[in-house]
Order: sequence, then structure tokens, then C-alpha cells
Amino acid sequence: MKTLLISAIAALGLSFGAANANEGGHVTDIAFSFEGPFGKYDQQQLRRGFQVYREVCSACHGLKYVALRTLSDKDGLGMNPDWVRAYAAEMSIYDPELDDERPRKETDHFPTVVDAGAPDLSLIAKSRAGFHGPYGTGIAQFVQGMGGPEYIYSLLTSYTGEETETAGNVLYENHVFSTGYLQMPPPLSDDLIEYEDGTPATTQQMAKDVAAFLMWAAEPKLVDRKEWGFVAVLLLSLLTVLLYLTNKRLWAPFKDRFRHDDYKENIPD
Ligand code: HEC
Repeated sequence: MKTLLISAIAALGLSFGAANANEGGHVTDIAFSFEGPFGKYDQQQLRRGFQVYREVCSACHGLKYVALRTLSDKDGLGMNPDWVRAYAAEMSIYDPELDDERPRKETDHFPTVVDAGAPDLSLIAKSRAGFHGPYGTGIAQFVQGMGGPEYIYSLLTSYTGEETETAGNVLYENHVFSTGYLQMPPPLSDDLIEYEDGTPATTQQMAKDVAAFLMWAAEPKLVDRKEWGFVAVLLLSLLTVLLYLTNKRLWAPFKDRFRHDDYKENIPD
């Protein structure tokens, strides 16, 4: 028993140690518009984030699970369908039926990009949701609404400027990344792009916007889901009240009978 206890404590200590080693750096909490039970995407921010993706990140990162037509969703970016069609046509795709390349249609997905060895960003905002807080338990996500977008923002703004070279690969120091060094060179710098809506393009602003865009990419139906969640909670509350009242009503005659003294007299000793 004693040895069992000791080894259990040792295992716990080890796993805590490992979690500590992996924790990475500090992730900044940001009050995104889509947080909280009534949060909604900020359409202007999504459009700016998409511009950052288009002009910067898409050189290395694909979005292979995102259909181009969703860019014109009303509760997302709400882009003009004609614009989306023209944008899609700028990119080609291999069509096995034609056995040739053809321009993309709005029903096709964003391209898959593998050349740079960079991960696909379609779901990164969800898959990195737990990469912060006490040992990545998701507590910070639950309490402060922190998640993948905060991780992405922090990653993009936390380069220290130091580099090392390992086996011919240049690695860039960034304490938000789990190992402290990653292969992605700092992708953002002030005024790298010129926003179509005139917002000053600081590194922080671009990081925030692209993080929001990637959250939308990973969860385009977030607002819908929240609205239905609210309706469900409302209906269930109503049902609870009705059930409570029905229950009272149903048992009322019996409760009454128990209260009569003559009933007690009939109980055998
Ligand atoms: C020059 C190519 C390049 C560009 C441009 C680029 N990235 Fe990356 N990115 C990479 C590579 C390579 C990795 C893999 C890094 C690694 O695992 O060491 C990566 C990894 C990432 C990751 C995953 C980090 C993790 O936790 O695994 C995110 C998120 C990311 N990039 C976001 C972006 C965003 C947002 C932009 C645009 C602002 C961008 N990247 C622009 C090459 C690039």
C-alpha cells in the first residue's frame, strides 16, 4: 500500500513537471467580440483578418477545410458573392475529371499549402484552445474565455528576435511556442499591409484580426450555436417550472389525505 502511494505521488509529480516544461510562455487575454454567451463576430475585424491571411499567411499556410463560398455567409464576413467568385477563380485546382488544372469555383475549398512545411490553419484556433493557463487544463478558457485566438495572437506578437540554427534549420525564439523555438519566421511587422478599411496596421492589430478570422474559420457557426443554446436554456427553464407545478398538482390530493387525523387512526399498530 505504502509503495503504491509513493509511486502514485511520484507519477503525479512527474506529470506536473512535464506539464510545466511544456507550458510555454505567457498568453495574453483579449476581450474578443465573440466571447461570452451573447458574443458575435465583428464583421469588419473578420474582413481585416482575412486580408492579413490573404496577403501574408496564405504564402505558407492552407485552409483546406474551409469552403470559399462561406466567405459570403451573412453572420461571418458577408463578402459579396461576385467578389468571392472572382477571388476563387484566381486560384487553380487539379480536377481529376478534366485531368488538368482549372480555376477554383466558390464551391471549392481554400488551397492546401504544403511547401513551407507549415500546418493547415483551418482548425488551429480550436486545436490550440487549451495551450495556456494552469497546465493547459482549459480552466482559463472556462473562466476568462481564453482560447485558441489568444494563443495565436500571443504567438504572433511574442518573438524575441533571437535565432538559432539546428541541423540546417533556422529556428526563431518565441516563448509562447511549446518548445521555445519554432520554424516560422516572424510573419508580421508594423505597416506590413495597408488595411482596406483604413485601420492602422500595427503588429498587434493584425495579430488580433487574423486570430479572430481563424476562429471564424474553425467555427463559422459559433453565433448560430450560441443563439440556439440560449433558446434551449430558455425552453428548458420553462419546462422545469411547468414540471414543478404539474408535480405539485398531481400529488396535492394525496398530501391532503395524509394530513387528516382519521387516516392516522386507520394505520395498524
Ligand atoms: C514563411 C512561411 C510562413 C508564413 C508567411 C506564416 N507562417 Fe505560420 N508557420 C510556418 C511554419 C513553417 C510553421 C511550423 C512551425 C514549427 O512547427 O516549428 C508555422 C506555424 C504556425 C502556427 C502553429 C503554431 C503551433 O502552435 O503549432 C500558427 C498558429 C501559425 N503558423 C500562424 C500563422 C499566421 C496567422 C500567419 C500570418 C500572419 C503565418 N503563420 C504566416 C510558416 C509560416
